[in-house]
Amino acid sequence: MNRFTALIYDRFLMGASQQAGLAEKRCNALAAASGEVLEIGAGTGLNLAAYPRAGITRLVCTEPNAAMSSQLEARSADAPVAVEVVAASAERLPFEDASFDCVTGTLVLCEASSPPAALAEIARVLRPGGHYLFLEHVRSADHDQAQMQDRWAPIWRRVSGGCNCNRDTLATIESSPLTVEKAEIGRFPKAPKIVKPLLIGSAVLAAV
Ligand SMILES: C[S@@+](CC[C@H](N)C(=O)[O-])C[C@H]1O[C@@H](n2cnc3c(N)ncnc32)[C@H](O)[C@@H]1O
Repeated sequence: MNRFTALIYDRFLMGASQQAGLAEKRCNALAAASGEVLEIGAGTGLNLAAYPRAGITRLVCTEPNAAMSSQLEARSADAPVAVEVVAASAERLPFEDASFDCVTGTLVLCEASSPPAALAEIARVLRPGGHYLFLEHVRSADHDQAQMQDRWAPIWRRVSGGCNCNRDTLATIESSPLTVEKAEIGRFPKAPKIVKPLLIGSAVLAAV
């Protein structure tokens, strides 16, 4: 995400999708968030209004891009509790092992430089029995659609400022230390075909 895409993110990149159902999908994806919660790649803070109003005792939002996190800080009143904003990438989380009950991430693993490393970090900072809640656009299960995503991926990465439209993120989560509990594929409202398939689900870190 470059400075320009950060500036147009809310209104021009996400506005129509948010209104056409993405805001509601965010609420569904985050409905089980509770206790001490860490959000990775929180961007401009579009999730803050989507968290449940009760049950969250701490909310830490990490975001590596200052142009995104300045908007996140301005939106912190939308959150159910005070927001702690921390500049960090998901591959290197500056937190102790087992320090959160829940980790959330929406539309982040498409941009992360290493999704497996990010997932290893998510598992490290989760307490045993803790949940990772995710909403990610992913590689299509349809062979022809996936090939189309592969063809467009280099151009899309350039115009979007770093988004990879063809990642098989569910397979990556399944290969991580987490156990997938729920995974549903729907559609990203009002989005280009190459980023249409939308994965919403949860995974758990096994209790020891
Ligand atoms: C498409 S935006 C999504 C923002 C927000 N999560 C949302 O749902 O609207 C992708 C976000 O991931 C962030 N990002 C990119 N690489 C990252 C990384 N390695 N670790 C954490 N966040 C990253 C970007 O700065 C950007 O804010």
